[in-house]
Amino acid sequence: MPSQLFSPIDLRGLTLPNRIVIAPMCQYSAVDGNANEWHLIHLGHMALSGAGLLMIEATGVEPEGRITPACLGLYSDENEAALAKVIATVREHGGTPLGIQIAHAGRKASVHVPWEGGQPLSEQDSAWKTVAPSALPFGDGWPEPRALGAVKMDALRDAFVATAERAARIGFDLIEVHAAHGYLLHEFLSPVSNHRRDEYGGSLENRMRFPLEVVASVRQVWPDQRPLGLRITGSDGVEGGLTDDDAVAFTRKLHELGCDYVCISSGGIAPGAFLASEPGYNVPIAAKIKSETDMAVRVVGQITEAIQAEDIIATGQADMVALARALLDNPRWPWHAAQALGAHLDYPPPYARSHPDLWPGAKLLHPELARGAKSG
Ligand SMILES: Cc1cc2nc3c(=O)[nH]c(=O)nc-3n(C[C@H](O)[C@H](O)[C@H](O)COP(=O)(O)O)c2cc1C
Repeated sequence: MPSQLFSPIDLRGLTLPNRIVIAPMCQYSAVDGNANEWHLIHLGHMALSGAGLLMIEATGVEPEGRITPACLGLYSDENEAALAKVIATVREHGGTPLGIQIAHAGRKASVHVPWEGGQPLSEQDSAWKTVAPSALPFGDGWPEPRALGAVKMDALRDAFVATAERAARIGFDLIEVHAAHGYLLHEFLSPVSNHRRDEYGGSLENRMRFPLEVVASVRQVWPDQRPLGLRITGSDGVEGGLTDDDAVAFTRKLHELGCDYVCISSGGIAPGAFLASEPGYNVPIAAKIKSETDMAVRVVGQITEAIQAEDIIATGQADMVALARALLDNPRWPWHAAQALGAHLDYPPPYARSHPDLWPGAKLLHPELARGAKSG
């Protein structure tokens, strides 16, 4: 039986050569939102991994939408030129399709980079005023965000649209709107963070309204042949929060709007919410969404083994898997997964001499990769 993980998948006009996706990963290494040599090195080597899709990190649609001052942005001509330069080189040398995640961090913006503690910036650190659906801080010690009014909501929707237009000009193959991890669009969706009394709060239908308006507007400007997806939360994991049934309802609406996939993640709406860590912790939710909707489903979270990834796809629990830390740990994860699953993967020509078809040392180096064993 040929590997299902290494079978292609069509998303609108884009064919991914396999179902392994490198999850978006903030690098906290930009200056004024601009990509630089770090992004070139990081994305450059990820693009040689053999994955079916490389997602670029959460990219702010306005300066205040960045999580940290060092997060990537795509809100200015300067940002666009810097990212276009990096992407042109990555595309020239890496064969992997490229997607970008566009985001607004809402009340979780204006924090230090993780290796400086990840806590809210102080005024001396040039903290900025955050925004959210309601004036509710993320947690103890966090600043109170400004509740969004109609004018700023229109401006934010336009900011998502303008960033999508910039991403289209750069030539990204796919765009993903971030609506998970407790950031702005998730904050609208979740009753934990959305206490509004207008048509954007209250019922699930109302809480979905702003994210759906954003997605509909992005779909209008994003080229028709290129896929649009969302990262959504499968569960808030807190009392009174979003459930997997809410995720199903949201996914159905997204499908009606012409979205091409959802990526199922979870947690992040409140400090400590849903700190799951068991292998494949989002897979049961993804499987439910896949079985109850017509949407293509990607799943992320503690997927580390080739056999595990193959099983998720082959049993129809999801259509794609996304891996984050496993790819940081081992950017050749897809090579070794192909070896373990008996699939053929072309290597970049300058690396071809390390392919197991040409180099017996590959089998000595990874004896555990005999078909059916775990991957590197
Ligand atoms: C360094 C790092 C940066 C991340 N940045 C993002 C991001 O930009 N957008 C996002 O949706 N998730 C982000 N995540 C979460 C990952 O995409 C992924 O959902 C999470 O790490 C679970 O997958 P894993 O178990 O394969 O690491 C990040 C994770 C890591 C480790």
